[in-house]
Amino acid sequence: MNILRNFVVFEGGDGSGTSTQIELLRNRLNPEQTPEIHRGGKTEPGLRLFATFEPTDSPIGRILRQALRGTLPLKPETVARLFAADRNEHLFGPEGIREHCLAGDLVVSDRYVPSSLVYQGIDCGEALPALLNRDFPLPELLIFFDLDPNIALERLEGRSGRDVYERLDVQLLVRERYRALLPAYAAGEVRLEHLDASRPAEEVAEEVWRILRQMPIFEAWGEES
Ligand code: TYD
Repeated sequence: MNILRNFVVFEGGDGSGTSTQIELLRNRLNPEQTPEIHRGGKTEPGLRLFATFEPTDSPIGRILRQALRGTLPLKPETVARLFAADRNEHLFGPEGIREHCLAGDLVVSDRYVPSSLVYQGIDCGEALPALLNRDFPLPELLIFFDLDPNIALERLEGRSGRDVYERLDVQLLVRERYRALLPAYAAGEVRLEHLDASRPAEEVAEEVWRILRQMPIFEAWGEES
């Protein structure tokens, strides 16, 4: 199986708090606060974090956001293909995921292939998203933020506007599909962690940190915090 080392993916239903957790991690790994490493008479920068998300903010990602808002009606198959195209650039484009991983950075993406298998799987059946995403490398670590959709949608209440997937019936299906699909990743070489996302954000952040700290990249840098 093709695993991209140093690559971490956060997955979960809408409102499960993945974006908040990326933000908290960004604060924790702020380059100004991350200690430098002194090795062999040289000073090296501390661990660098490349925090990213899908759909991206590229032109393809912007089309996708319009589709998600319902302001641009597109066929589900078109949406599935656009997500895969956005991902291909995100991975292999300049300063993309692959480049950062190979440079030794810790890369954390808010959503990746499993989102397409779950969400587009609902809209256009399993075969097309599976085919479109078959050849993308897998992350070293996949964290699933599990949350009751009733609570998740309550959390989204204050936000302006709603995406087409932000409905209870869809989110119940989304959670079911994640739970059915993710164990297959753990059967391969991907480390899968299941996290109870109903707890306060700070508590979840501690757990995320504990999980991340077990990655080999932290051993290499000997980072302490
Ligand atoms: P989300 O990650 O919650 O971002 P925001 O906080 O900006 O709303 O929303 C992205 C939506 O995109 C979410 O409903 C899931 C959907 N999505 C897919 O349907 N397929 C995909 O491949 C990806 C990456 C996301």
